[in-house]
Amino acid sequence: MSTWANLGLQDSASPLMEQLIFFHDHALLILVMITVLVGYLMFILFFNSYVNRFLLHGQLIEMIWTILPAIILLFIALPSLRLLYLLDEINEPSVTLKSIGHQWYWSYEYSDFNNIEFDSYMIPTNELATDGFRLLDVDNRVVLPMNSQIRILVTAADVIHSWTVPALGVKVDGTPGRLNQTNFFINRPGLFYGQCSEICGANHSFMPIVIESVPVNYFIKWISSNNS
Ligand code: CUA
Repeated sequence: MSTWANLGLQDSASPLMEQLIFFHDHALLILVMITVLVGYLMFILFFNSYVNRFLLHGQLIEMIWTILPAIILLFIALPSLRLLYLLDEINEPSVTLKSIGHQWYWSYEYSDFNNIEFDSYMIPTNELATDGFRLLDVDNRVVLPMNSQIRILVTAADVIHSWTVPALGVKVDGTPGRLNQTNFFINRPGLFYGQCSEICGANHSFMPIVIESVPVNYFIKWISSNNS
């Protein structure tokens, strides 16, 4: 979860989010180097003494400053494509969770396990526990096993919503009449918070997501206590 003055990305809870953070830092470093170089050159321009005012062309330097940026762009494009295809790779999921966006709450279905289904509403501020997180906690959490491949299917019942959990690197639109798929692997236990990130109506800000990541045997206990 993000806390005060956290301007960067949240700590990752999945290998893919870790890769996304590495790529973000890599791209930002290149961006900073370009900005500093261009800023320096523009500043230096103020002190130009016009000694080369009869110089009209320079084949070599033009060749260099055309090809060099193209190579720099490749260093961003290739890792970006690698990540893009890696994010889409499905690797034998052991659990499939279906999540349906509604105005304004999420509902979940564990179709693999006796069709467990429930709604997940935000807890209103006046009903919040003293240690609860305002606008972020829900009445029914999504319980998922850690160290397992999890597939998520996202759709919506009314308008477009978006199932977004930053620590897991997941952001999938829920669109009425469609079923979107992605997958993730949670590599530590804990609570991971997310929010709808598609402007879906008046209470768009009030349909958070809470994932409770637990060891596999705890998950089995939870799932079997639910389908009595
Ligand atoms: Cu649902 Cu915004």
